[in-house]
Amino acid sequence: MSDKTGKQENLTAGKIWEDFIETTGFHAVNKIDFGKKHPPGRSLFWMCIWLLSAGYLIFTVTTELISYYKYPTTTTVSVKNNDELDFPAVTICNLATRNRSMFAEDERTDIYYLGISALYDTAAKVNWSDPFYTTEGYFNERTLDDLYMESKSLSNFITFHKFDLKPFYLKYTPVSTDLGLCVRFNMDSPPEKTVMHGGVYNLQMYIDLRLDDDYFAATYLSSGLKVVVHDQSEVVMMANDGFVVPPASEALIEISRKEYKYLPPPFRAFEDDTCDDKRSNYSTSKCHQCCLRDYLLQQCSCVGFMFNSPTGKYCSQERYLECFIPEFWNILKKGLNCSCPFQCQYTEYDTKLSFGLFPSTFMLKSLATMLNETEDYIKNNFISLTLFYKDLKTTITEQKPCMRMLEMFFLMLADKWDYFLVQAF
Ligand SMILES: *[C@@H]1O[C@H](CO)[C@@H](O)[C@H](O)[C@H]1NC(C)=O
Ligand SMILES: *[C@@H]1O[C@H](CO)[C@@H](O)[C@H](O)[C@H]1NC(C)=O
Ligand SMILES: *[C@@H]1O[C@H](CO)[C@@H](O)[C@H](O)[C@H]1NC(C)=O
Ligand SMILES: *[C@@H]1O[C@H](CO)[C@@H](O)[C@H](O)[C@H]1NC(C)=O
Ligand SMILES: *[C@@H]1O[C@H](CO)[C@@H](O)[C@H](O)[C@H]1NC(C)=O
Repeated sequence: MSDKTGKQENLTAGKIWEDFIETTGFHAVNKIDFGKKHPPGRSLFWMCIWLLSAGYLIFTVTTELISYYKYPTTTTVSVKNNDELDFPAVTICNLATRNRSMFAEDERTDIYYLGISALYDTAAKVNWSDPFYTTEGYFNERTLDDLYMESKSLSNFITFHKFDLKPFYLKYTPVSTDLGLCVRFNMDSPPEKTVMHGGVYNLQMYIDLRLDDDYFAATYLSSGLKVVVHDQSEVVMMANDGFVVPPASEALIEISRKEYKYLPPPFRAFEDDTCDDKRSNYSTSKCHQCCLRDYLLQQCSCVGFMFNSPTGKYCSQERYLECFIPEFWNILKKGLNCSCPFQCQYTEYDTKLSFGLFPSTFMLKSLATMLNETEDYIKNNFISLTLFYKDLKTTITEQKPCMRMLEMFFLMLADKWDYFLVQAF
């Protein structure tokens, strides 16, 4: 019984093969008939050819599969013309942000502030057992109000500004940075957009530096402004970025916009690194800032004004000098191990600067009337800033997956599946 069924199956399989090779369109298969119609040698020859081809196909598909799982990419650079562009955020700091009138005129105050200035090397050691420091509150925790009180209010001394020819239009807010209290234009999202470009449009302003109020500055020995043009989502270190504008100058800042788009995992965005796009609000600089802050918070149990304090309390002046600053320098020397992956998409702004003497001798008189200040004061204290897009173009650097053989094969198959079916059967 079982023998009979076996024979039947054999017969059926043989019959099916015969049927198949008679009707199939696959090359060479119809020549393999095991000597039924043609000499056996011929079958053998075609079988070899067929097996070789099949082997080659398997080899190709395997290599393609291996290459497929390496996720090869290519990077393209293109230029896009826009009808309108988001205007970047602009952060501006007076190089000397402290207001002298707010500090007690005492040698011991000067010793302390020299100790946290760029000339800290030359400062004498603060004698903390001197009761002066206790009565002046150097051991008390501080709040943002203290920062606002003892800083020059730069925002009051932006004497004039306009955006796309609209006076006093673009919003700005005081922000605390590593250089002290600064101002930031256009920080809200969504950011202000512009449809205009060129040297007379976009953001223009006059700023009064109030150099007579100077007190020990944080990082610099010169006077002027520090300006950083950046994306709204970035956290900027004013000391690491941007450019300085000297007093008595008119600075023209030409901006061009660059976008970078990298592929999320499993693709490799930066050589052996992947990028992070899961959290849409994620920014590498924010992550670094938090990592830095948490480390300092751990070391000193307080942070300086450049960070956002979770409790709203900041280092006392004593802690700032004795713990925060030394730890901060330590990090700069040693580096800090933050696991902050790169973000997959970001925008950068390139700037090109040119300067003129501000104001011209001839225009000085009219400006003195307009600003209600003496000519001498204007010559020493004023800066004119113009920040503008050169054009409304964006240079986009984009990583793209390579079109791979396997994908092409499946695309072709999808396109021509009916043809293949008809051929095969
Ligand atoms: C520090 O101040 C205290 C109190 O004024 C004084 O007695 C002491 O001599 C000072 N120490 C130094 C090193 O100046
Ligand atoms: C410095 O403080 C004095 C006194 O409060 C104030 O009149 C002056 O406007 C301040 N200067 C700046 C640049 O904020
Ligand atoms: C991003 O952050 C803003 C405010 O910081 C918040 O309103 C918004 O919901 C966040 N978006 C996402 C996707 O988390
Ligand atoms: C940073 O972390 C990595 C892995 O977490 C470790 O291999 C490396 O030694 C660390 N570097 C420093 C300076 O701590
Ligand atoms: C110009 O400034 C002076 C003092 O600096 C003031 O008395 C005067 O009122 C001001 N004039 C105008 C038009 O604001």
